Amino acid sequence: MQQKIIILDFGSQTTQLIGRRVRELNMYCEIVPYNKFPADDPDVIGVILSGSPFSVYDEKAFKIDLDTVRGKYPILGICYGAQYIAYTNGGNVEPAGSREYGRQNLTTIDKSCPLFQGFDDNSQVWMSHGDTITAIPTGAHVVASTPQVENAAYYLPEEKPVFGVQFHPEVFHSVQGTLLLKNFVVGVCGGKQDWSAANYIETTVKELREQVGKDRVILGLSGGVDSSVCAVLLNRAIGDQLTCIFVDHGMLRKNEFSDVMKDYECLGLNVIGVDASDKFLGDLEGVTEPEKKRKIIGRDFIEVFNAEAKKITDAKWLAQGTIYPDRIESLNITGKVIKSHHNVGGLPEEMHLSLCEPLKWLFKDEVRRVGRELGMPEHLITRHPFPGPGLAVRILGAITREKVRVLQDADDIYIRGLRDYKVKLSGEEARSVLAAGVPANMENGEIEVSLYDQIWQAGAILLSEVRSVGVMGDERTYENPVALRAVTSTDAMTADWAHLPYDFMAKVSNDIINKVKGVNRVCYDISSKPPATIEWE
Ligand code: XMP
Repeated sequence: MQQKIIILDFGSQTTQLIGRRVRELNMYCEIVPYNKFPADDPDVIGVILSGSPFSVYDEKAFKIDLDTVRGKYPILGICYGAQYIAYTNGGNVEPAGSREYGRQNLTTIDKSCPLFQGFDDNSQVWMSHGDTITAIPTGAHVVASTPQVENAAYYLPEEKPVFGVQFHPEVFHSVQGTLLLKNFVVGVCGGKQDWSAANYIETTVKELREQVGKDRVILGLSGGVDSSVCAVLLNRAIGDQLTCIFVDHGMLRKNEFSDVMKDYECLGLNVIGVDASDKFLGDLEGVTEPEKKRKIIGRDFIEVFNAEAKKITDAKWLAQGTIYPDRIESLNITGKVIKSHHNVGGLPEEMHLSLCEPLKWLFKDEVRRVGRELGMPEHLITRHPFPGPGLAVRILGAITREKVRVLQDADDIYIRGLRDYKVKLSGEEARSVLAAGVPANMENGEIEVSLYDQIWQAGAILLSEVRSVGVMGDERTYENPVALRAVTSTDAMTADWAHLPYDFMAKVSNDIINKVKGVNRVCYDISSKPPATIEWE
């Protein structure tokens, strides 16, 4: 039996975070739409109700019959979840006088309540709600308050207890939020915390062997974390029955194709490397429009991949590194359930391959943990995301081999610089980097990490249609600028530009201009997303 916590999703932006926090406790959980509770699943040990963009009074508010879960499992309602339980159980919810938002301190805490055991006085929490609970459910006690929010948390001490918190324990700024979730899933629900990378590998390897039998599997590798971990996991399960295909479209990073091929070979993978750069660069000749570039690359990729895949005539399965956030059905405000993402591109339909997705229950940080447990090298595991079309969307204007070479050289200097520059972090900054799964040891309250590990994604962009004047030695130059981009983010949906140290920027700028022929100016992109995007095209 794999114990699980069910998180009912009422549409909050932080629902996925609740899932991640529970998993960080080595406790398995699944996020399901608010109205899809798996009533006949014997492994469920507790239920969490998420927040929501709606007020309980909204006509369109997501509503459930609480009797499907109340009295059957311990329940924790977060924000809207807590308000909904109050509203439907003899309590009352009203618009807050002023919007209750941001950091607040719990000035009163009932530490005898199972949810708040081990809490510090004045523990900081994060509030974000327009409505507030003015009367708690019949039979409940108030167990925490802030100066602004009297009913910050309540407790219904029944055989299957019910808790409501109006703050967000899943959010980083709720300093003891993880303790609260642990108190719920372990202390109240009896979770055994038996979800670990080693455990996952053991059961998944067994399942893959049963699923695939003696069949052959093909997998498209990209050099990225997900497809690489997927390949190594499959290799552990079925060895040589797995054939991987890695396509070089000619717009990867400098030496990336050969470096990654070497890594894969060291990992014992059976990889076919296909150099299709002539085809891609030929088809892209003279194309300047970003979406057209993407379409050509997507089409060529499918053609090249399918041509290789067809040579493996006995293949029965196509494996993909789809991960959990790719599949979580997110609820949009109109109440429609939408698929947020499809990883499935280029499935060779005529080959009638079945899909095999061994990472489909994992969050990104868990994929990394599985990779480490499988003994993969750290540089493959902590690699930044990189767009499928590669440098094509970072060369503004038409693409040529020469422009790719210039950008590869500038980008290489930049990325190596980010890896080499070490910073010491403490407090919230350190906690945030550690929470993202970066391996670092805390010493005297500090950790040392590279700038590369501190940011979500970085890259250089060649402004190949812009030229500016410069001077080198006695020579006048008239060359292209390169823009550097580095962003912090947790999911690429929103991002902020990274505040890189000035001495680092000065050195990188110097190095690029001195060493990369064709570049005489370096700029730094200080746009956040939104309204800009991470990539320039
Ligand atoms: P944007 O530029 O939309 O990017 O802020 C968000 C994230 O997605 C990556 N990205 C892509 N990945 N194919 C991909 O596989 C693409 O066409 C593509 N465009 C953007 C981008 O690098 C960032 O991580």
